[in-house]
Parts: sequence; structure tokens; C-alpha cells
Amino acid sequence: MRLPLIAGNWKMNTTVPEAIKLVAAMLTELNRIDGVEKVLCPPFVSLVPIKELLQGSSVKLGVQNMYFEDKGAFTGEISPVMLIDLCQYVILGHSERRQYFNETDALINQKVKGAFRFGIVPILCVGEHLEENEADMTKVVVTRQIKLALQGVNPSAQLVVAYEPVWAIGTGKAATAEQASTTISVIRSTIAGVWGKEIAQRVRILYGGSVTQGNIAEFVTDAEIDGALVGSASLKAEEFLSIVKQAALIKARV
Ligand code: 13P
Repeated sequence: MRLPLIAGNWKMNTTVPEAIKLVAAMLTELNRIDGVEKVLCPPFVSLVPIKELLQGSSVKLGVQNMYFEDKGAFTGEISPVMLIDLCQYVILGHSERRQYFNETDALINQKVKGAFRFGIVPILCVGEHLEENEADMTKVVVTRQIKLALQGVNPSAQLVVAYEPVWAIGTGKAATAEQASTTISVIRSTIAGVWGKEIAQRVRILYGGSVTQGNIAEFVTDAEIDGALVGSASLKAEEFLSIVKQAALIKARV
């Protein structure tokens, strides 16, 4: 009942020509895949040319960050108003933003509100650090992150959450599907606590962290895991295609 979603987070990779080339290498095949929502999140500078390439396609666009104010003296920032016509999704609260750019739960909360205000769907990232995982704090951490991010936000089944354990990002050491599934259940009950069970059942929750064509099957076989937020493997056309295809095939049966 939840449409599976595979999103590629390109992070700070690809020049404009490289981004165009990457999309061109995948587009025809991606368009042929049904039953999974496909989202590409390139760097801001490639948004306009990629939007043109995607005209008439079933592939959707997302961005990797956004400020919450509509406009004004916020040098270097991009507002939701600027993005309305360019993309459908925005990744918010990614651990790299929390870690390198000091984004707090309070700021992420403002950004979630800013996105919803303009109809852009947040892909809200949560996840624990290695030490927190080892201290058995995963549940506590993700519950806190979800509650703070959704504080004062009107309930919306459009929301997408990505559970991305920090220790699994870019390390080649993915969580097991069982670990991901357990934490995703915690996230879903937390959302249910804030927004009610009916909405929580419709919110899609993805796994992210070292997802590859070799392990995607394991994740999407689990009914709790609605898809993946893919980093480095989304920069390789063949591999990303394989991930999306496997997800479509498996989710049709789960
Ligand atoms: P990797 O797939 O490179 O581990 O990155 C995951 C991620 O951070 C996606 O947002």
C-alpha cells in the first residue's frame, strides 16, 4: 500500500556535464521501471538542465538541502520558493549536514515546516552514531530526532523518512536488514505517537547507508523497509539501475 521509493543522493559529486551524462545513461531504462518511485537528488547547479532532461519522464527530482525562509538576506542559501517548480523532494537532516554544518534538530524542524509550506516533500534523515549504537541508544536517538523534527508540523502521509545509521554511510558496512527493520518499526511507532497510527502507516520509511546492487534485495524483501536512499552507488548508472530494478521486482511480491 506504500509505493516503494529509491532515491539517489549524489552529494557533492558531478559537474553539470557529468550530471547530464549520468542522467542520460540511465533515463530510458529508469522510465521502463514501474512500481517504484525513482528520485534523483543532484547538486543544485544541475537542477535546471536535469529538469529539462526529465520532461515527460516518470523520474522525479529532489535536492539535498534547503533553507526554511521564503526569501531575504541569507547569503548562499536556497529557499523553498525557488524550488517549487524545480523539484518534488528535499533531503533534510542528513547526517553530513548535522555533522559538518552543525544543523540542529530545531533547524531541521524549521526546514521540514518550510518544505511542507510549499508542497515540497521532505526526505527526513535520522540515524545514530557508532558510539550511540554500541551504547544501545539507537531507539532513543531516532525517537528524539523524529519527535523534534516533527514538532508542530501538521500531519502528512507525504513525509518520507530515511533511516541512515551514521556508521553505515560511506563505510561499505551496511546495517543488516533486520537491524534496519527493527529501527524502522521504532520510527513508525514514534510517528504514530505524534501523528496517529493511520498517517504513520502511510509514511514511507527508507533505509540508507552503503546500499549496493549486492545488498538491496535483502532490504526491500523486508515489508517494513519501503526503499532506499542510495549514496555512492547512485553515481554509477548500471548499479543504480540494478538497484531500482531489483526493488521493483521484489516489492511487487512482498
Ligand atoms: P552511501 O550509500 O554512499 O553509504 O551514502 C548513503 C547516504 O548518505 C545517502 O544519503
